[in-house]
Amino acid sequence: MTISVIGTGYLGAVHAVCMADLGHTVIAVDVDEAKIEALSAGRTPLYEPGLDEMLQEQLATGRLTFTTDLAAVEPADVHFICVGTPQASGENRADLTYVYAAADALGPHLRPESLVVGKSTVPVATAERLRRRIAKAGGRKKSEVRLVWNPEFLREGFAIEDTVAPDRFVYGVAEPGSPESDADVALLDRVYARPLSTGTPRLVTDYPTAELVKVAANAFLATKISFINAMSEVCEAAGGDVLALAEAIGHDDRIGHKFLGAGVGFGGGCLPKDIRAFMARAGELGADQALTFLREVDAINLRRRARMVDLAREACGGTFKGRRVGVLGAAFKPNSDDIRDSPALDVAEMIKAAGAQVRVHDPRALHVARVQRPGPEYVDTIAEALEGAHVVLHLTEWQDYRDLDPASLASTVEAPVIIDGRNKLDPARWRAAGWTYRALGRPQV
Ligand code: UGA
Repeated sequence: MTISVIGTGYLGAVHAVCMADLGHTVIAVDVDEAKIEALSAGRTPLYEPGLDEMLQEQLATGRLTFTTDLAAVEPADVHFICVGTPQASGENRADLTYVYAAADALGPHLRPESLVVGKSTVPVATAERLRRRIAKAGGRKKSEVRLVWNPEFLREGFAIEDTVAPDRFVYGVAEPGSPESDADVALLDRVYARPLSTGTPRLVTDYPTAELVKVAANAFLATKISFINAMSEVCEAAGGDVLALAEAIGHDDRIGHKFLGAGVGFGGGCLPKDIRAFMARAGELGADQALTFLREVDAINLRRRARMVDLAREACGGTFKGRRVGVLGAAFKPNSDDIRDSPALDVAEMIKAAGAQVRVHDPRALHVARVQRPGPEYVDTIAEALEGAHVVLHLTEWQDYRDLDPASLASTVEAPVIIDGRNKLDPARWRAAGWTYRALGRPQV
Protein backbone atom coordinates (compact mmCIF):
# COMPACT_ATOMS: atom_id res chain seq x y z
CA MET A 1 0.00 0.00 0.00
CA THR A 2 1.02 3.62 -0.30
CA ILE A 3 1.10 5.44 3.00
CA SER A 4 1.78 9.00 4.07
CA VAL A 5 3.11 9.99 7.47
CA ILE A 6 2.53 13.63 8.41
CA GLY A 7 5.01 14.83 11.04
CA THR A 8 8.45 13.26 11.44
CA GLY A 9 9.12 13.88 15.11
CA TYR A 10 9.64 10.98 17.45
CA LEU A 11 6.39 9.21 16.63
CA GLY A 12 6.34 10.02 12.90
CA ALA A 13 9.96 9.15 12.14
CA VAL A 14 9.61 5.78 13.84
CA HIS A 15 6.22 5.12 12.26
CA ALA A 16 7.42 5.98 8.73
CA VAL A 17 10.45 3.70 8.96
CA CYS A 18 8.43 0.86 10.49
CA MET A 19 5.65 1.13 7.87
CA ALA A 20 8.30 0.84 5.16
CA ASP A 21 9.66 -2.19 7.01
CA LEU A 22 6.16 -3.73 6.86
CA GLY A 23 6.48 -3.54 3.04
CA HIS A 24 4.56 -0.35 2.28
CA THR A 25 5.58 2.60 0.11
CA VAL A 26 5.90 5.54 2.49
CA ILE A 27 5.90 9.29 1.84
CA ALA A 28 6.81 11.13 5.05
CA VAL A 29 6.34 14.87 5.26
CA ASP A 30 7.34 17.59 7.70
CA VAL A 31 7.55 21.38 7.62
CA ASP A 32 11.05 21.25 9.16
CA GLU A 33 13.52 21.27 6.25
CA ALA A 34 16.54 20.33 8.36
CA LYS A 35 14.76 17.29 9.71
CA ILE A 36 13.70 16.14 6.24
CA GLU A 37 17.21 16.65 4.92
CA ALA A 38 18.71 14.58 7.75
CA LEU A 39 16.17 11.78 7.39
CA SER A 40 16.65 11.67 3.60
CA ALA A 41 20.39 11.30 4.24
CA GLY A 42 19.77 8.35 6.60
CA ARG A 43 20.11 10.21 9.90
CA THR A 44 17.31 10.31 12.45
CA PRO A 45 17.06 13.52 14.48
CA LEU A 46 16.80 11.47 17.70
CA TYR A 47 18.52 8.54 19.36
CA GLU A 48 16.51 5.36 19.24
CA PRO A 49 18.31 2.00 19.30
CA GLY A 50 18.31 0.40 15.81
CA LEU A 51 16.43 3.23 14.09
CA ASP A 52 19.27 4.71 12.03
CA GLU A 53 20.17 1.29 10.63
CA MET A 54 16.55 0.51 9.81
CA LEU A 55 16.11 3.94 8.19
CA GLN A 56 19.14 3.40 5.95
CA GLU A 57 17.92 -0.07 5.02
CA GLN A 58 14.48 1.24 4.06
CA LEU A 59 15.83 4.25 2.16
CA ALA A 60 17.87 1.81 0.07
CA THR A 61 14.70 -0.01 -1.02
CA GLY A 62 13.48 3.22 -2.63
CA ARG A 63 10.07 2.78 -0.95
CA LEU A 64 10.67 5.39 1.76
CA THR A 65 10.89 9.08 0.87
CA PHE A 66 10.89 12.30 2.91
CA THR A 67 9.63 15.64 1.69
CA THR A 68 8.48 19.07 2.84
CA ASP A 69 5.87 19.18 0.05
CA LEU A 70 2.53 18.13 1.46
CA ALA A 71 1.05 17.79 -2.05
CA ALA A 72 3.31 14.73 -2.46
CA VAL A 73 1.03 12.74 -0.12
CA GLU A 74 -1.84 12.69 -2.63
CA PRO A 75 -1.25 9.12 -3.94
CA ALA A 76 -1.46 7.63 -0.42
CA ASP A 77 -4.22 5.14 0.44
CA VAL A 78 -3.75 5.87 4.14
CA HIS A 79 -2.51 9.09 5.79
CA PHE A 80 -1.14 8.89 9.32
CA ILE A 81 -1.24 12.10 11.38
CA CYS A 82 1.77 11.90 13.71
CA VAL A 83 2.43 15.53 14.69
CA GLY A 84 3.17 16.58 18.27
CA THR A 85 0.68 17.86 20.85
CA PRO A 86 2.89 19.61 23.41
CA GLN A 87 1.66 21.23 26.62
CA ALA A 88 0.36 24.71 25.85
CA SER A 89 2.66 27.39 27.20
CA GLY A 90 1.65 28.40 30.74
CA GLU A 91 -1.37 26.07 30.75
CA ASN A 92 -2.18 22.43 31.43
CA ARG A 93 -4.06 21.77 28.19
CA ALA A 94 -2.54 20.32 25.03
CA ASP A 95 -1.59 22.65 22.20
CA LEU A 96 -3.39 21.34 19.10
CA THR A 97 -1.91 23.87 16.64
CA TYR A 98 0.12 21.23 14.76
CA VAL A 99 -2.75 18.75 14.55
CA TYR A 100 -5.09 21.38 13.16
CA ALA A 101 -2.44 22.62 10.70
CA ALA A 102 -1.91 19.06 9.46
CA ALA A 103 -5.66 18.60 8.96
CA ASP A 104 -6.03 21.88 7.10
CA ALA A 105 -3.07 21.10 4.85
CA LEU A 106 -4.20 17.55 4.14
CA GLY A 107 -7.83 18.41 3.26
CA PRO A 108 -7.22 19.61 -0.32
CA HIS A 109 -4.96 16.61 -1.10
CA LEU A 110 -7.18 13.86 0.28
CA ARG A 111 -8.69 11.51 -2.32
CA PRO A 112 -12.27 10.42 -1.43
CA GLU A 113 -11.32 6.75 -1.06
CA SER A 114 -8.25 7.41 1.15
CA LEU A 115 -8.30 6.95 4.90
CA VAL A 116 -6.96 9.40 7.50
CA VAL A 117 -5.56 7.77 10.64
CA GLY A 118 -4.89 9.89 13.73
CA LYS A 119 -2.03 8.72 15.95
CA SER A 120 -1.12 11.86 17.93
CA THR A 121 -2.13 11.97 21.62
CA VAL A 122 -5.12 14.30 21.74
CA PRO A 123 -7.86 15.43 24.12
CA VAL A 124 -11.09 13.51 23.74
CA ALA A 125 -13.35 14.91 20.93
CA THR A 126 -10.44 15.93 18.70
CA ALA A 127 -11.11 13.19 16.11
CA GLU A 128 -14.59 14.55 15.38
CA ARG A 129 -13.19 18.09 15.13
CA LEU A 130 -10.43 17.00 12.78
CA ARG A 131 -12.87 15.23 10.51
CA ARG A 132 -14.84 18.46 10.24
CA ARG A 133 -11.69 20.51 9.56
CA ILE A 134 -10.35 18.14 6.93
CA ALA A 135 -13.75 18.17 5.21
CA LYS A 136 -13.90 21.96 5.23
CA ALA A 137 -10.35 22.31 3.91
CA GLY A 138 -11.14 19.85 1.09
CA GLY A 139 -14.53 21.39 0.25
CA ARG A 140 -16.58 18.31 1.10
CA LYS A 141 -19.02 17.00 3.73
CA LYS A 142 -17.79 15.58 7.05
CA SER A 143 -19.39 12.22 6.24
CA GLU A 144 -17.20 12.01 3.15
CA VAL A 145 -13.99 12.03 5.19
CA ARG A 146 -12.88 8.55 6.27
CA LEU A 147 -11.05 8.76 9.61
CA VAL A 148 -9.91 6.22 12.22
CA TRP A 149 -8.35 7.15 15.59
CA ASN A 150 -5.50 4.73 16.22
CA PRO A 151 -3.50 5.82 19.30
CA GLU A 152 0.16 5.01 19.63
CA PHE A 153 1.56 3.23 22.67
CA LEU A 154 5.27 3.24 21.85
CA ARG A 155 7.90 3.69 24.52
CA GLU A 156 11.11 5.53 23.74
CA GLY A 157 13.98 3.08 23.69
CA PHE A 158 11.63 0.30 22.47
CA ALA A 159 9.92 2.28 19.76
CA ILE A 160 10.57 -0.11 16.86
CA GLU A 161 9.39 -3.16 18.75
CA ASP A 162 6.32 -1.31 20.03
CA THR A 163 5.40 -0.23 16.47
CA VAL A 164 5.96 -3.43 14.51
CA ALA A 165 4.86 -5.79 17.31
CA PRO A 166 2.58 -3.80 19.64
CA ASP A 167 0.67 -5.47 22.46
CA ARG A 168 -2.66 -4.22 21.07
CA PHE A 169 -4.23 -2.09 18.36
CA VAL A 170 -7.10 0.26 19.10
CA TYR A 171 -9.18 1.61 16.21
CA GLY A 172 -11.66 4.37 17.03
CA VAL A 173 -14.19 4.60 14.19
CA ALA A 174 -17.02 6.97 13.27
CA GLU A 175 -19.89 4.49 13.73
CA PRO A 176 -18.84 1.10 15.05
CA GLY A 177 -20.59 -1.70 13.16
CA SER A 178 -21.64 0.42 10.18
CA PRO A 179 -20.57 -0.76 6.68
CA GLU A 180 -18.53 2.44 6.22
CA SER A 181 -16.60 1.95 9.46
CA ASP A 182 -16.13 -1.76 8.73
CA ALA A 183 -14.52 -0.76 5.43
CA ASP A 184 -12.20 1.64 7.29
CA VAL A 185 -11.25 -1.13 9.72
CA ALA A 186 -10.55 -3.52 6.83
CA LEU A 187 -8.31 -0.94 5.14
CA LEU A 188 -6.29 -0.30 8.30
CA ASP A 189 -6.05 -4.06 8.87
CA ARG A 190 -4.25 -4.26 5.51
CA VAL A 191 -1.67 -1.75 6.76
CA TYR A 192 -1.04 -3.79 9.91
CA ALA A 193 -1.46 -7.20 8.23
CA ARG A 194 1.89 -8.51 9.49
CA PRO A 195 1.54 -7.76 13.22
CA LEU A 196 -2.16 -8.74 13.10
CA SER A 197 -1.22 -12.13 11.61
CA THR A 198 0.59 -12.98 14.85
CA GLY A 199 -2.64 -12.65 16.84
CA THR A 200 -2.15 -9.12 18.22
CA PRO A 201 -5.45 -8.06 19.85
CA ARG A 202 -7.31 -5.41 17.86
CA LEU A 203 -10.15 -3.50 19.50
CA VAL A 204 -12.67 -1.41 17.59
CA THR A 205 -14.33 1.40 19.55
CA ASP A 206 -15.97 4.75 18.96
CA TYR A 207 -13.78 7.87 18.67
CA PRO A 208 -14.04 9.10 22.28
CA THR A 209 -13.12 5.71 23.72
CA ALA A 210 -10.07 5.35 21.47
CA GLU A 211 -8.88 8.85 22.35
CA LEU A 212 -9.41 8.14 26.05
CA VAL A 213 -7.62 4.76 25.94
CA LYS A 214 -4.35 6.51 25.24
CA VAL A 215 -4.54 9.09 28.01
CA ALA A 216 -6.06 6.60 30.45
CA ALA A 217 -3.12 4.22 29.86
CA ASN A 218 -0.58 6.98 30.47
CA ALA A 219 -2.51 8.23 33.53
CA PHE A 220 -2.46 4.71 34.96
CA LEU A 221 1.28 4.33 34.38
CA ALA A 222 1.98 7.72 35.96
CA THR A 223 -0.23 6.80 38.93
CA LYS A 224 1.62 3.53 39.42
CA ILE A 225 4.97 5.33 39.53
CA SER A 226 3.69 8.01 41.89
CA PHE A 227 2.09 5.36 44.09
CA ILE A 228 5.43 3.67 44.67
CA ASN A 229 7.12 7.04 45.13
CA ALA A 230 4.52 7.92 47.77
CA MET A 231 5.40 4.63 49.47
CA SER A 232 9.01 5.71 49.16
CA GLU A 233 8.21 8.89 51.14
CA VAL A 234 6.51 6.82 53.83
CA CYS A 235 9.43 4.38 53.92
CA GLU A 236 11.81 7.29 54.45
CA ALA A 237 9.71 8.52 57.36
CA ALA A 238 9.26 5.06 58.90
CA GLY A 239 12.67 3.56 58.19
CA GLY A 240 11.33 1.05 55.66
CA ASP A 241 12.80 -0.09 52.35
CA VAL A 242 10.75 0.76 49.27
CA LEU A 243 12.63 -1.72 47.08
CA ALA A 244 11.72 -4.64 49.30
CA LEU A 245 8.18 -3.31 49.57
CA ALA A 246 7.81 -3.08 45.75
CA GLU A 247 9.27 -6.56 45.32
CA ALA A 248 6.81 -7.97 47.85
CA ILE A 249 3.63 -6.28 46.61
CA GLY A 250 4.59 -6.99 42.98
CA HIS A 251 4.34 -10.74 43.55
CA ASP A 252 0.60 -10.26 43.75
CA ASP A 253 -0.05 -10.59 40.05
CA ARG A 254 -2.97 -8.17 40.28
CA ILE A 255 -0.32 -5.56 41.12
CA GLY A 256 2.72 -6.83 39.18
CA HIS A 257 6.31 -5.64 39.33
CA LYS A 258 6.35 -3.36 36.29
CA PHE A 259 6.37 0.43 36.76
CA LEU A 260 7.02 0.13 40.47
CA GLY A 261 10.52 1.55 40.06
CA ALA A 262 10.87 4.11 42.88
CA GLY A 263 13.22 7.05 42.34
CA VAL A 264 13.23 10.60 41.03
CA GLY A 265 10.03 9.89 39.15
CA PHE A 266 8.68 10.20 35.64
CA GLY A 267 9.60 12.75 33.02
CA GLY A 268 9.62 12.84 29.23
CA GLY A 269 7.42 14.23 26.52
CA CYS A 270 4.42 12.06 27.40
CA LEU A 271 3.43 11.13 30.97
CA PRO A 272 3.77 14.60 32.60
CA LYS A 273 2.04 16.57 29.86
CA ASP A 274 -0.57 13.88 29.20
CA ILE A 275 -1.85 13.78 32.79
CA ARG A 276 -2.03 17.59 32.83
CA ALA A 277 -3.87 17.73 29.49
CA PHE A 278 -6.21 14.98 30.70
CA MET A 279 -7.10 17.00 33.81
CA ALA A 280 -7.64 20.12 31.70
CA ARG A 281 -9.94 18.28 29.29
CA ALA A 282 -11.90 16.65 32.11
CA GLY A 283 -12.42 20.15 33.51
CA GLU A 284 -13.83 21.35 30.19
CA LEU A 285 -16.18 18.38 30.19
CA GLY A 286 -17.37 19.09 33.73
CA ALA A 287 -15.74 15.88 35.00
CA ASP A 288 -12.79 17.51 36.78
CA GLN A 289 -13.54 15.78 40.10
CA ALA A 290 -12.92 12.42 38.48
CA LEU A 291 -9.30 13.32 37.86
CA THR A 292 -8.32 15.48 40.84
CA PHE A 293 -6.18 12.53 42.02
CA LEU A 294 -3.90 13.18 39.04
CA ARG A 295 -2.98 16.51 40.60
CA GLU A 296 -1.59 14.53 43.53
CA VAL A 297 0.16 12.13 41.14
CA ASP A 298 1.87 15.12 39.55
CA ALA A 299 2.72 16.65 42.94
CA ILE A 300 4.24 13.42 44.33
CA ASN A 301 6.31 13.16 41.18
CA LEU A 302 7.69 16.69 41.46
CA ARG A 303 8.33 16.28 45.21
CA ARG A 304 10.83 13.49 44.49
CA ARG A 305 12.98 15.94 42.55
CA ALA A 306 12.95 18.35 45.51
CA ARG A 307 13.77 15.49 47.90
CA MET A 308 16.78 14.57 45.76
CA VAL A 309 18.03 18.15 46.05
CA ASP A 310 17.58 18.01 49.84
CA LEU A 311 19.53 14.76 50.12
CA ALA A 312 22.33 16.19 47.98
CA ARG A 313 22.46 19.34 50.15
CA GLU A 314 22.62 17.22 53.29
CA ALA A 315 25.49 15.22 51.77
CA CYS A 316 27.28 18.49 51.03
CA GLY A 317 27.12 19.45 54.72
CA GLY A 318 24.02 21.62 54.55
CA THR A 319 25.07 24.05 51.82
CA PHE A 320 25.83 23.95 48.12
CA LYS A 321 28.04 27.05 48.24
CA GLY A 322 31.54 26.14 47.12
CA ARG A 323 30.56 22.50 46.55
CA ARG A 324 30.90 20.36 43.45
CA VAL A 325 28.11 17.99 42.45
CA GLY A 326 28.58 15.30 39.81
CA VAL A 327 25.40 14.26 37.97
CA LEU A 328 25.14 10.99 36.08
CA GLY A 329 22.39 11.27 33.50
CA ALA A 330 20.55 14.00 31.63
CA ALA A 331 18.00 12.10 29.51
CA PHE A 332 14.55 11.49 31.03
CA LYS A 333 15.29 7.78 30.82
CA PRO A 334 18.06 5.53 29.49
CA ASN A 335 18.41 4.59 25.79
CA SER A 336 17.04 7.95 24.74
CA ASP A 337 18.48 11.41 24.07
CA ASP A 338 15.17 13.01 24.99
CA ILE A 339 15.51 15.58 27.78
CA ARG A 340 11.92 16.84 27.82
CA ASP A 341 10.81 17.32 31.44
CA SER A 342 13.84 15.34 32.54
CA PRO A 343 13.96 14.83 36.33
CA ALA A 344 17.78 14.65 36.11
CA LEU A 345 18.09 18.09 34.54
CA ASP A 346 15.54 19.66 36.88
CA VAL A 347 17.57 18.41 39.84
CA ALA A 348 20.84 19.58 38.27
CA GLU A 349 19.42 23.06 37.60
CA MET A 350 17.95 23.41 41.10
CA ILE A 351 21.30 22.50 42.66
CA LYS A 352 23.17 24.90 40.41
CA ALA A 353 20.70 27.66 41.29
CA ALA A 354 21.43 26.94 44.97
CA GLY A 355 25.12 27.70 44.43
CA ALA A 356 26.93 24.45 43.60
CA GLN A 357 29.15 23.81 40.64
CA VAL A 358 27.28 21.07 38.76
CA ARG A 359 28.81 18.80 36.13
CA VAL A 360 26.44 16.61 34.16
CA HIS A 361 27.34 13.56 32.09
CA ASP A 362 25.10 11.54 29.79
CA PRO A 363 26.08 8.96 27.18
CA ARG A 364 23.69 10.31 24.51
CA ALA A 365 21.79 13.43 25.46
CA LEU A 366 24.53 16.05 25.89
CA HIS A 367 24.22 17.48 22.39
CA VAL A 368 20.55 18.31 23.02
CA ALA A 369 21.04 19.39 26.65
CA ARG A 370 23.83 21.84 25.76
CA VAL A 371 21.49 23.65 23.36
CA GLN A 372 18.17 23.39 25.17
CA ARG A 373 19.14 23.55 28.88
CA PRO A 374 22.39 25.53 28.90
CA GLY A 375 22.50 26.04 32.71
CA PRO A 376 24.70 23.25 34.11
CA GLU A 377 28.15 22.36 32.84
CA TYR A 378 28.04 19.34 30.52
CA VAL A 379 31.03 17.03 30.33
CA ASP A 380 31.84 14.25 27.88
CA THR A 381 33.31 11.76 30.33
CA ILE A 382 32.15 10.26 33.59
CA ALA A 383 35.58 11.03 35.07
CA GLU A 384 35.11 14.77 34.45
CA ALA A 385 31.67 14.70 36.10
CA LEU A 386 33.09 13.01 39.17
CA GLU A 387 36.33 14.94 39.50
CA GLY A 388 36.48 16.72 42.86
CA ALA A 389 32.77 16.08 43.55
CA HIS A 390 31.46 16.36 47.11
CA VAL A 391 28.52 14.17 46.10
CA VAL A 392 27.58 12.14 43.00
CA LEU A 393 23.94 11.81 41.91
CA HIS A 394 22.78 8.90 39.78
CA LEU A 395 19.70 10.25 38.01
CA THR A 396 19.26 8.30 34.75
CA GLU A 397 19.87 4.57 34.87
CA TRP A 398 22.10 4.03 31.84
CA GLN A 399 23.84 0.64 31.77
CA ASP A 400 27.15 2.56 31.57
CA TYR A 401 26.61 3.72 35.16
CA ARG A 402 25.69 0.27 36.42
CA ASP A 403 28.90 -1.04 34.88
CA LEU A 404 31.09 1.51 36.73
CA ASP A 405 33.79 0.23 39.03
CA PRO A 406 33.21 2.14 42.31
CA ALA A 407 36.64 1.18 43.67
CA SER A 408 38.52 2.91 40.87
CA LEU A 409 36.35 6.04 41.15
CA ALA A 410 36.69 6.70 44.88
CA SER A 411 39.98 8.56 44.42
CA THR A 412 38.64 10.98 41.74
CA VAL A 413 35.96 12.50 43.98
CA GLU A 414 36.43 14.87 46.91
CA ALA A 415 34.12 12.72 49.04
CA PRO A 416 32.94 9.22 48.05
CA VAL A 417 29.21 9.80 48.49
CA ILE A 418 26.67 8.60 45.91
CA ILE A 419 22.92 9.13 45.96
CA ASP A 420 21.10 6.68 43.74
CA GLY A 421 18.05 8.49 42.40
CA ARG A 422 16.98 5.46 40.38
CA ASN A 423 17.60 2.63 42.85
CA LYS A 424 19.47 0.74 40.17
CA LEU A 425 23.05 0.61 41.49
CA ASP A 426 24.26 -2.21 43.72
CA PRO A 427 24.60 -0.72 47.24
CA ALA A 428 26.80 -3.59 48.47
CA ARG A 429 29.38 -3.02 45.71
CA TRP A 430 29.54 0.73 46.28
CA ARG A 431 29.75 0.41 50.04
CA ALA A 432 32.41 -2.30 49.80
CA ALA A 433 34.48 0.12 47.71
CA GLY A 434 34.36 2.72 50.49
CA TRP A 435 31.45 4.82 49.26
CA THR A 436 28.61 6.18 51.33
CA TYR A 437 25.60 4.96 49.34
CA ARG A 438 22.21 6.60 49.81
CA ALA A 439 18.99 6.12 47.87
CA LEU A 440 15.46 7.43 47.83
CA GLY A 441 13.10 5.40 49.99
CA ARG A 442 15.77 3.16 51.51
CA PRO A 443 17.23 3.11 55.00
CA GLN A 444 20.52 4.85 55.56
CA VAL A 445 23.25 2.40 56.65
C1 UGA B 1 5.24 6.44 27.81
C2 UGA B 1 4.40 5.15 27.89
O1 UGA B 1 5.10 4.16 28.64
C3 UGA B 1 4.12 4.62 26.49
O2 UGA B 1 3.26 3.48 26.57
C4 UGA B 1 3.42 5.72 25.70
O3 UGA B 1 3.13 5.28 24.36
C5 UGA B 1 4.33 6.93 25.64
O4 UGA B 1 4.59 7.39 26.97
C6 UGA B 1 3.63 8.00 24.84
O5 UGA B 1 2.63 8.52 25.31
O6 UGA B 1 4.01 8.22 23.69
P1 UGA B 1 7.84 6.94 27.48
O7 UGA B 1 7.51 8.36 27.76
O8 UGA B 1 8.72 6.59 26.34
O9 UGA B 1 6.50 6.08 27.26
O10 UGA B 1 8.56 6.38 28.78
P2 UGA B 1 8.25 5.38 29.97
O11 UGA B 1 9.00 4.14 29.78
O12 UGA B 1 6.79 5.28 30.23
O13 UGA B 1 8.93 6.18 31.18
C7 UGA B 1 8.42 7.46 31.56
C8 UGA B 1 9.16 7.97 32.76
O14 UGA B 1 8.82 7.22 33.91
C9 UGA B 1 10.68 7.94 32.67
O15 UGA B 1 11.20 9.16 33.17
C10 UGA B 1 11.08 6.78 33.55
O16 UGA B 1 12.35 6.92 34.09
C11 UGA B 1 10.00 6.85 34.62
N1 UGA B 1 9.73 5.56 35.29
C12 UGA B 1 9.31 4.47 34.61
C13 UGA B 1 9.91 5.47 36.68
O17 UGA B 1 10.28 6.46 37.34
N2 UGA B 1 9.65 4.28 37.30
C14 UGA B 1 9.22 3.19 36.63
O18 UGA B 1 9.00 2.13 37.26
C15 UGA B 1 9.06 3.28 35.24
